[in-house]
Parts: sequence; structure tokens; C-alpha cells
Amino acid sequence: MTMFNLKSLAYLAALGVVAAHDNGLAITPQMGWNTWNHFGCDISEDTILSAAKALISNNLTALGYNYVVMDDCWHAAARDSATGAPVADPEKFPNGVKDLSDKIHDMGLKFGIYSSAGKYTCGGRFGSLGFEEIDAKTYAEWGVDYLKYDNCFNEGLSGTPQISHDRFANMSRALNATGRPILYSMCNWGEDGPWNFAPTIANSWRISGDILDNFDRFDERCPCTDIIDCKLAGFHCAMARIIDFAAPVGQKARSGGWNDLDMLEVGNGGMTFDEYVTHFSFWSILKSPLILGNDVTNMSNETLEIITNTAIIGLNQDLGSGPANRMWKRTVKEGGDLQLWAMSLSNNRFVIALLNTSPNQQTVDVDFADAFFDQGKTYQQQAYQVSDLWQKDDSGNWGKSVGTIQGGIKNVQIATHQSKIWLAIPAPSSKRAYAEL
Ligand SMILES: *[C@@H]1O[C@H](CO)[C@@H](O)[C@H](O)[C@H]1NC(C)=O
Ligand SMILES: *[C@@H]1O[C@H](CO)[C@@H](O)[C@H](O)[C@H]1NC(C)=O
Ligand SMILES: *[C@@H]1O[C@H](CO)[C@@H](O)[C@H](O)[C@H]1NC(C)=O
Ligand SMILES: *[C@@H]1O[C@H](CO)[C@@H](O)[C@H](O)[C@H]1NC(C)=O
Ligand SMILES: *[C@@H]1O[C@H](CO)[C@@H](O)[C@H](O)[C@H]1NC(C)=O
Repeated sequence: MTMFNLKSLAYLAALGVVAAHDNGLAITPQMGWNTWNHFGCDISEDTILSAAKALISNNLTALGYNYVVMDDCWHAAARDSATGAPVADPEKFPNGVKDLSDKIHDMGLKFGIYSSAGKYTCGGRFGSLGFEEIDAKTYAEWGVDYLKYDNCFNEGLSGTPQISHDRFANMSRALNATGRPILYSMCNWGEDGPWNFAPTIANSWRISGDILDNFDRFDERCPCTDIIDCKLAGFHCAMARIIDFAAPVGQKARSGGWNDLDMLEVGNGGMTFDEYVTHFSFWSILKSPLILGNDVTNMSNETLEIITNTAIIGLNQDLGSGPANRMWKRTVKEGGDLQLWAMSLSNNRFVIALLNTSPNQQTVDVDFADAFFDQGKTYQQQAYQVSDLWQKDDSGNWGKSVGTIQGGIKNVQIATHQSKIWLAIPAPSSKRAYAEL
């Protein structure tokens, strides 16, 4: 786990890498918890403090889940009429936001807040458009470490990358001007292709409409079939559809600036165990922020088991690697598809991932010519020590060896909506550095 703590620009500089957005944050994708997916507008100081305590008592903070983010509906009816500063709802937050953030900091955690780059937030509270400076300044005074910045009621200030960029850059500048490092999590739903214009102004950008706690249901409210030319991002985007959306834009993510596939639904009840394993695995290997969205004060053992798989989290937090790439996608006649994904990790390690979105169990041969297409012939032909990261070894650690394998992994039985995540390390006899190719 020590690599989680090497989140410094100095380390990146040593690698010869420059972080996309230069506030020194999100060197690896941010991790934490957010109120929205489970609680919606029904939040209070108690909701947030209880969650923070539960993150600690369940050892989730030790795994990296450090940001506690207060989403929409924390607001009073109006801004301060004299100064224009934002004000919190005095009934939900009787001690104010500064006091709440102090308490979160005293627990060793970081505190996040929410607003919208529009006249109103999505929940109809006052937005930050035209109030960027006073809002950023107030957040900094409150000790805020993270801003999720939404896109509702934007008064038509979208439609070209330049217009969207300028609106979101205004808040980026205002945050920078406070002098306080504040992680900037842009949420413009992929409008105008933020993967092109956001990397120098934000630490992460949402790529699609809001997630739906469902595996693959098509919903007219998330009408686009791909996100590259999407005119209405909408919401109710099923989980497996977001994996599809993410496939082409992985190339745009890098340290300091990540594609955000939206907050996690693991534990919220809309998917099966295997479906949530797929959800968590793919959010990890696609280098999405891992922001829990369930009630962490009341989790089943299954939920806890998924979100504490340290081997899977390690893929997400591996320094110096980018998102996994989809190597192929094959339609299955009963509907859905099979997908092969591959990812290069640091230290000459690799991830091979298989996903079955079809309604039936499938038998698949994974060919290393496909999995190591990018690395070339030597990598395709050599042997690997392969382990299954959703099984535990004899000492109870995630990652059970499935043997030393050359050529491919044959006859894989994969259940409906299941995924397999394998770590592949060149076997000692054939170990060879990438540079020697
Ligand atoms: C958290 O970690 C401590 C120390 O390793 C351990 O004793 C405790 O059982 C863990 N709690 C949970 C909920 O996993
Ligand atoms: C950005 O802020 C400037 C003032 O600093 C303002 O003139 C401009 O209209 C803002 N742009 C957008 C798109 O909000
Ligand atoms: C503000 O931006 C400058 C240069 O772009 C950067 O070096 C600095 O770390 C930023 N400061 C904060 C607090 O984000
Ligand atoms: C805890 O979770 C269980 C199972 O989902 C649910 O029935 C129960 O109402 C929850 N309790 C609270 C206090 O939310
Ligand atoms: C989790 O499993 C343990 C036994 O391993 C059991 O005592 C406990 O009640 C379970 N908790 C939940 C929330 O199911």
C-alpha cells in the first residue's frame, strides 16, 4: 500500500512526467465517499459525520478512501444578501460548514463540497455562475479540499469546447487564486468533449450523464449510444453503457486529470454481486475516481468485500499507468457482448480483463496475441505468471495464482455479467524489459 502515499509531484517529476492539471492533486484517481447516490438531497451534518466515522471504523480510509464529499442541497434558501457569499442551510448544518470541515479534518480526512457552473444547482439551489470568486474564496475559508462542479442551468453557455472550457476555467482560476489546493472535479456530463479541454483546468471530468444503479438497461433519459458526438447526456445511464462510453477516451487520461465514470453504486442494491464486481473492477482499471456512493454506515459483507479488494484498488492507484484499453468486443447472439481489455502497469506488470455482458454463461479463449497486441511479438509469445485478482491465495490475500501460462488463457468459463481480472507478470525465464524489444 505504500505506493498510495507517494502522491507527490516530485515523484512524478522524477519519472519525467508532468501532471495534467498543476495543483499537485489527483496524481492517482481520487478516492472517497459522496452523499448523492444514496442520500440525494436528504443530507445533514449528521449524515456526513456518520459516514466519515464509518469510513474509519471499516478501515476504508486506510485503503485510500479519504475525501468525504457533501453533494447538492447543503444550501440555505439564498446567499448572504450583503456579501453575496454562499450560506449553508442552518437547520441541516446548525454549526456551519467550517465546523463540519474542521471535524472531518480532525478525523484525518479531507472535505469536499458541491456547486454548479450555472444559475442554479441541479437540485435548484443557488449556483456559482458569476459567483466563482466569492464561492471559491468562501470554500477555501471553510477548509474545503475538493469541489464537485456540476452543469445544470448553465444558461446556454455550452455547445462548443471553447464556451464550456471558459465557463469551467473560471472556477478553476478562482480555486487557484485562493492559494488552497482544492481538487477540481468537473461534472459537465461529457458535453463538448471535456477529455480535450479539461485536462489543463481540472483534476477529473465526468464523461457521461449520471449513472443508474443497473447493469445495462437502456433508458431514453440517457439517449446517446456513444459520447463522442452526444447532444444530450441526460441521466439514468446504466453501468455497462458507461464502460462502453469510456472505451475510446481512455487515451486522454493521465496523472492529475482523469476520466470520471461517475460515483460508485456498489452497495445501493440495484445490481447483483457479480455486477457490482464488474462495476468496481472496471472503474478501477479505467482509472476513474473511486467515490463510494452507498450508505457506509450500513454495509453488507458482500459490499465491504468488493470495495476493500486491495489488489483491484492497487490497479486504480498504480502510479505511472493509464486506463485499460479495449482490445476487442464481440457481439453474442443472445444479446450483449464479450469484451477483452488490457492494461499496462508499472514495473512490467499487466492486467488482462474479460467481461461478459450477455445474459448467459460463455466459454472464451483469451489469446495473448490480442492481450499483448500493443507490446509486440516478444510479449505475445512469452510466459506469464497469472493470478486471478478476485480470488484469495492461501494466506488470504487477494490474487490467487492460476499458473504460468503461455499463448493464452483457454476455456475460460465466465458467468453472465461477470468479469475476470487477471494480473500477468512475465515469468522469470522470459523476463524482459519493454525497452529491450
Ligand atoms: C480494521 O483493521 C483493524 C486492524 O488491522 C482490525 O483489527 C479490524 O478488525 C478491522 N476492521 C474491519 C471492520 O475490517
Ligand atoms: C469568465 O469570467 C469572466 C470575468 O472574469 C467573465 O467576463 C466571463 O463572462 C466568464 N465566462 C464564462 C463563460 O462564464
Ligand atoms: C495555481 O497555479 C499555479 C500555476 O498554474 C500552480 O503552480 C499552483 O500550484 C496552483 N496553486 C493552487 C493552490 O492550485
Ligand atoms: C440497513 O440495510 C438493510 C439492508 O439493506 C436495510 O433493510 C435497513 O433498513 C438499513 N438500515 C438503516 C438504518 O438504514
Ligand atoms: C458479516 O459476516 C460476519 C461473519 O463473518 C457476521 O458475523 C456478520 O453479521 C456479517 N455482517 C453482515 C452485515 O452481514
